[in-house]
Amino acid sequence: MYSYKIANPFVVGKYVSEDFFCDRADETAFLKKQVDNGRNTAIIAPRRLGKTGLIQHFFAQPEIAKRYQTIFIDIYATNSLSEFVYLLGNSIYKEIKPLHKKWTERFFGTIKSLRPGFKLDAATGEPVFDIGLGSIEQPQTTIDEIFDYLEAADKPCIVAIDEFQQITNYAENNIEALLRTKIQQCKQTLFIFSGSRRHLMNQMFNSPSKPFYQSVITTDLKPLDKVVYTAFAKKLFADYGKTISEELLKQVYDDYEGVTWYMQMIMNELFALTEKGDNCKLESYPIALKNVIQTQESSYKDTLSNISAKQKPVLFAIAKEGEATNVTSAKFLKDNGLSSSSSVQSALKGLLEKDIITRTENGYRVYDYFFAEWLVWNY
Ligand SMILES: Nc1ncnc2c1ncn2[C@@H]1O[C@H](COP(=O)(O)OP(=O)(O)O)[C@@H](O)[C@H]1O
Ligand SMILES: [Mg+2]
Repeated sequence: MYSYKIANPFVVGKYVSEDFFCDRADETAFLKKQVDNGRNTAIIAPRRLGKTGLIQHFFAQPEIAKRYQTIFIDIYATNSLSEFVYLLGNSIYKEIKPLHKKWTERFFGTIKSLRPGFKLDAATGEPVFDIGLGSIEQPQTTIDEIFDYLEAADKPCIVAIDEFQQITNYAENNIEALLRTKIQQCKQTLFIFSGSRRHLMNQMFNSPSKPFYQSVITTDLKPLDKVVYTAFAKKLFADYGKTISEELLKQVYDDYEGVTWYMQMIMNELFALTEKGDNCKLESYPIALKNVIQTQESSYKDTLSNISAKQKPVLFAIAKEGEATNVTSAKFLKDNGLSSSSSVQSALKGLLEKDIITRTENGYRVYDYFFAEWLVWNY
């Protein structure tokens, strides 16, 4: 059945194998088609929907793994070209290191500016890459060398850059143009860009004044299909000698609007709460939710401590309403003890920028469903 069994089949935060991965067959075929035709792709979807998972699943396809060298970087936490270069250099090195000694030799032969970081471990004689961010003195030179390396590799490379919109925040201001030029010059290296900030991603790829304008095929990732996800979850329970009620599965899907991470977190806990031979029913849901939220509590406190005193009441009011419409109406202000619609507007702006809240069709909601629940419980 499975190539191997893991303790809890609802995996969160990493890719194990297709056995524990739900669907995405069309999306995987779509990526393959683009790659087969030498096209670069951009995937746009809100956070936690499954962009990273899809890319990892795509890279794990035997035809892809065989034909390409695949590299994945998440640049969410980077703020400058040096950090970008550091992350990319490091990821390439990690990919090639286990392969062959001659590859590491070629790596440092081409990427000369990183060579000072190359050392042999005194005890084992194994090469180690001991380079800190500070040793990237000339990021532009290093990036040229990295691209030279990629282009000369034995196998063509696919480089996936997650949270790509982050480059628009870099300290230097010509980064989009610089990367666009480098990428355009590539003959055998392909790129997959993904990002969760729709507005920024669209601006990068779809506005005529931007360097990346129309340079890639863009696609929106949609939530997993309800019928497909519930069947997937049911099967995983069954494979481990457990069952789960259909009603509960549908409820979980609806509560998180099919957003993968939230569903997987809850399913993981529901699975843990169910003994072998038992049926998991609706009663278990509040317990699972409480347990999951407890594991996140310290990060919620941290988030809250970074929200200004003026933004907090607006955030609490939105959390309380679930979906808040008419946030500047007299009623909303009065019900929530808010002073003026202009102060609400500026609080909304700040909360949106920090991804604490998000726009819905008719108003606003707290971005993170679990955080929203935690706020309702505590404030
Ligand atoms: N198709 C899938 N089946 C099962 N789990 C998935 C699937 N796609 C993503 N996940 C899981 O859901 C969580 C969120 O997905 P992720 O790919 O990190 O989202 P994003 O990159 O869009 O923020 C991760 O823990 C991941 O393991
Ligand atoms: Mg991601």
